[in-house]
Order: sequence, then C-alpha cells, then structure tokens
Amino acid sequence: MSSPDERREALKELFHEARGCVRCPQLAQTRHTVVFGAGNANADLMFVGEAPGRNEDERGLPFVGQAGKLLDTLLGEIGLARDQVFIANVLKCRPPGNRDPHPVEIERCQEYLFRQIELIEPTVICTLGNFATKLLRHDTTGIMRLHGRAEVRMVGPRSVRLFPVFHPAAALYTPSNVDVLRQDFRALPELLALGAPEQPPALVEPSVEDEPNSDPPAPPDAVAPGEAQPAIAAEVEAAPEPESEPAPAEPHPAQLGLF
Ligand code: URA
Repeated sequence: MSSPDERREALKELFHEARGCVRCPQLAQTRHTVVFGAGNANADLMFVGEAPGRNEDERGLPFVGQAGKLLDTLLGEIGLARDQVFIANVLKCRPPGNRDPHPVEIERCQEYLFRQIELIEPTVICTLGNFATKLLRHDTTGIMRLHGRAEVRMVGPRSVRLFPVFHPAAALYTPSNVDVLRQDFRALPELLALGAPEQPPALVEPSVEDEPNSDPPAPPDAVAPGEAQPAIAAEVEAAPEPESEPAPAEPHPAQLGLF
C-alpha cells in the first residue's frame, strides 16, 4: 500500500513510459496521443473501456466524446464525478477508423492497464463492454451474460470486485440499453460501500512486530552521504525500454492535470 502521493508519482512515471510506446507499430504511427487514462489516482472505483476514439485521440483524455457524456450522466446519477474515479482503457492508442482492438494489440498493451490497476488499487473495477470484461476475467464469456453481476476476482495480485456493464457507446443509439446501463450503475454505490474484498494471504501487510527490522523506513528522498541523488537514479532507471521511443517533449496540455 502506497501513500496517495507515491501512487500519483508512480502513475506519472508509468504515463511517461506509455507516451513513448511503440509496441504496436501501426497504432504508434496513426495515433495523435497516447490516452493513458485520467482521474483520481486514489480512486476506489475504476472504469475500464475499450480504446480511445477520435475525440479521445485528439484531446488525450478518455471518454470525452458522446459515450463519455453518457458516462458522466450515469456517474452523476449515482452521486459521483469524474475526479472521484479513474478511467482507463484496454488500449491506450486509437485503432484507426475505430476498428476493434486486435488480440496482439491487447496482448502488448495490457501491461500498462495491469500496472495502473496495481498502483491505483481500486476496490471496484467496472468494465465497460466486452473487451475490458474478457481481458480482466481471462474468459470469453460475453457482456450480455455478465452485465450487472458483481464478482470477486483476482486482477493481478489483488482481489477486486469486478462489475461488468454495457459499453456506453453501445447504448448510445439503443435507448433500452441505456435503461439497462442506468439500472446496473445503481448497484455501484452499494458495491463501493462493501469496501475491498478479502485479499490473498501474501498481500496482507506484516505488522510492525512481524518485521525483522522494525526501524522506520527511510523517507523516500533521504540520501546518505556519497549516495547517488534519487532524481538521477530515477532517470537512469526510467531510460526507455527497447520497445519505447523517447516520449515527445511535452504531453498534450490537457494531460498535465491528469491525476
Ligand atoms: N470508448 C472507449 O472505450 N474509450 C474511450 O475512451 C472512448 C470511447
């Protein structure tokens, strides 16, 4: 468990890594921005959509088109605002023409999503549509069968309450789907009130008495004389991976206030 500031910093680092990603050569060529995700780094509730569309690709933020407006409305109806949740996608780059994500793209991109989930530690993950639901459940069961039913599942090393719902874009032109989404959203406050599900034993943090050395940990920026400055060390560690290129000089302005 990290402090809110540590979480935010770790997410920012991951964001900077993702901004230079070229794992999917086609998407890296055709995208305008890497839509990393946005919201509250300490949110209990996280939404996972499919992939950025045209508006998201232009603005660098998730769910800012028509589907995003519907998402905002549904959130408002249960008393939540965007800055209380975190919103991400399975793919961080727009597939050209809004085609479906290819399996190989999901495979290459999923690490970013799983690391986001690991850092944010949401108690509830609401998957929007089939792609997010299938990826996080590691199962091909479709959204028609699963929507509106909460399950406790392992996502990475943590146990979370997974709550699949229809994708808002799928509901846009079908009013009856909006009703179903609205109905499903109504279950979210109660689900959040349950708190985190029980975690597997390995994740239960040892109490101070259990620790062999009970000295308080050094503050993250404490530097012993003669040691490398942490900022320099961090830069060395953050050197681009072979599959990444140096990120563009400045993030899209709207992305600066991401978390
Ligand atoms: N649809 C998605 O799945 N994600 C977005 O960010 C926008 C539309």
